[in-house]
Amino acid sequence: LRGRSLSVTSLSGLPRWEVEELPVEELLLFEVAWEVTNRVGGIYTVIQTKAKTTADEWGDNYFLIGPYFEHNMKTQVEQCEPVNDAVRRAVDAMNKHGCQVHFGRWLIEGSPYVVLFDIGYSAWNLDRWKGDLWEACSVGIPYHDREANDMLIFGSLTAWFLKESFSVSQAGVQGLDLSSLQAPQLVKCVILFCLCRRASVSKCFNIDKEAGERQIYHRYCMERASVHCAHVFTTVSEITAIEAEHMLKRKPDVVTPNGLNVKKFSAVHEFQNLHAMYKARIQDFVRGHFYGHLDFDLEKTLFLFIAGRYEFSNKGADIFLESLSRLNFLLRMHKSDVTVVVFFIMPAKTNNFNVETLKGQAVRKQLWDIAHSVKEKFGKKLYDALLRGEIPDMNNILDRDDLTIMKRAIFSTQRQSLPPVTTHNMIDDSTDPILSTIRRIGLFNNRTDRVKVILHPEFLSSTSPLLPMDYEEFVRGCHLGVFPSYYEPWGYTPAECTVMGIPSVTTNLSGFGCFMQGHVADPTAYGIYIVDRRFRSPDDSCNQLTQFLYGFCKQSRRQRIIQRNRTERLSDLLDWRYLGRYYQHARHLTLSRAFPDKFHVELTSPPTTEGFKYPRPSSVPPSPSGSQASSPQSSDVEDEVEDERYDEEKEAERDRLNIKSPFALSHVPHGKK
Ligand code: UDP
Ligand code: G6P
Ligand code: GLC
Repeated sequence: LRGRSLSVTSLSGLPRWEVEELPVEELLLFEVAWEVTNRVGGIYTVIQTKAKTTADEWGDNYFLIGPYFEHNMKTQVEQCEPVNDAVRRAVDAMNKHGCQVHFGRWLIEGSPYVVLFDIGYSAWNLDRWKGDLWEACSVGIPYHDREANDMLIFGSLTAWFLKESFSVSQAGVQGLDLSSLQAPQLVKCVILFCLCRRASVSKCFNIDKEAGERQIYHRYCMERASVHCAHVFTTVSEITAIEAEHMLKRKPDVVTPNGLNVKKFSAVHEFQNLHAMYKARIQDFVRGHFYGHLDFDLEKTLFLFIAGRYEFSNKGADIFLESLSRLNFLLRMHKSDVTVVVFFIMPAKTNNFNVETLKGQAVRKQLWDIAHSVKEKFGKKLYDALLRGEIPDMNNILDRDDLTIMKRAIFSTQRQSLPPVTTHNMIDDSTDPILSTIRRIGLFNNRTDRVKVILHPEFLSSTSPLLPMDYEEFVRGCHLGVFPSYYEPWGYTPAECTVMGIPSVTTNLSGFGCFMQGHVADPTAYGIYIVDRRFRSPDDSCNQLTQFLYGFCKQSRRQRIIQRNRTERLSDLLDWRYLGRYYQHARHLTLSRAFPDKFHVELTSPPTTEGFKYPRPSSVPPSPSGSQASSPQSSDVEDEVEDERYDEEKEAERDRLNIKSPFALSHVPHGKK
């Protein structure tokens, strides 16, 4: 290996890391995942956002392998022929042997190549592959576990493909190396993980027994076996590393935190403008949804949301609802003029939008049209009068017909029922956990409620006739994302809020929450509220969350603006340009273990961020409820001072990071000879 070295870009003072450059022209990199071109949850986000940095390093030698679904292929992939000989011959060979393998470029940043297998088309091999798995490691998969069966087909096709590629690849390369393995996400043992965490000490917990009782023993065996076969095993966070050690009996070699592609705007405050712009769109929706009940001030209304796969307890929707009920009580008791509208964006089975919700938007549109036409008429009369040199008689400027139309319009806003708590007809309405909890705690969008709730049981889309916004636009328009997860290996949703400059709530049971705790001296001041769900009782966690929410509601607009600025400043830390180094390291380590003769061990020193912290902002007390007494109070004078200090502080912090960061001074580049 040539001794070239490469310095990974340093972002505004974040630590540099020097790595040996790999002879990537002699290597192929395959990244295998069920969510390649196929969005299920956050794993899709990992793969899709990381592609650019990986493609920058590996160029056309980088391939993603995933499952084929017609719709995904049509909408995301441009079909083409493989240029690489080994890959082309492997695709051809498999297609000749009764498989359907699709190849193309994934139309995302970095436009990497993808190899997609049609799982259904190869399902006829299932029994044979089940036999092979049994022969190899005595793990049997029951016929009713569809997910595990699909994984076996997908895994077998992948192994076949890699074998075909290597059987035709350059002489001298010692065949197939199933490389590094990311956290066992393909087959999840989520329930098991949660139990383990509750027990906290694995000794008092018989994993085999628990897995057997839950009928996921085969999944657990596959996961554990694959983890032990890998040259290098990684997890996405420290919290999953602990779990893996207890449950899978292997300590991860590298922790590879999830990053994002951080978009930098040329104007510093652009993200604030976007917030204002998209908030206006949400306000419009709320005007329609609450028609006839708009007795609250939209300028004093805060938009909160929770979003993600519908796992009621894992995602913390349970504790969130309970806190909302307490928040409602607090706001009412203190006669607050703030209203909170909370969105639950969690997909469930539905029968389309409900009539009342659609009607709300229709009524709003009608009122808008009427106001617009009356305004036109009014404007024209006013203009004519001014041309004649007269001030028109305001009492007569509108005629009787105009008044009638307006009165009729107002009548049409009367409604018999309360504004609905869900936007869709739910198939499992009576048993749905969110709706059942809403019924239990009585948050029905009454006029007296200061907290209003709207369940939108479908992911957002800009083509929706109801709320035509995509998820990113919606997040930007909100004030606070609330993700009080109980089980969360990473948790992209709060990370996405952060890079858009929107504060969020997370927990110390989520990978993201722990990561932030480790890198930011006072996360609350930066708009990252971390609920302690690990060491406190559920009731205490719920109280803490309520206090966070109540503190947030007490902030003035200026305080929210300052807080958003701070939140956005954390973006660099979450950028793949910085976090990509952990993956890079894992790959180098894999090569050095698989081919010790060819690859140097010097490559294996891990990147480190130890000692690095976003310092506590110097001028400002940790915002809201972390310490109520020192919360910024909403006096305008204080706010002005704070704003000024903020600019100074930003400058000072930049200096500190660039010049005095422990890294800038003491970091010794790794792998440099
Ligand atoms: N998401 C989305 N549309 C929505 C709500 C969420 O695309 O309306 C995405 C979100 O951007 C995030 C992912 O779903 O990238 C959820 O990932 P996370 O890691 O938070 O949780 P997971 O579902 O993987 O457990
Ligand atoms: C952004 C905009 C401001 C607007 C503010 C509203 O900062 O640049 O013009 O006043 O958002 O903030 P709020 O927290 O009340 O939605
Ligand atoms: C999983 C986890 C989530 C994580 C995502 C990406 O779906 O549930 O917490 O963010 O994978 O790693």
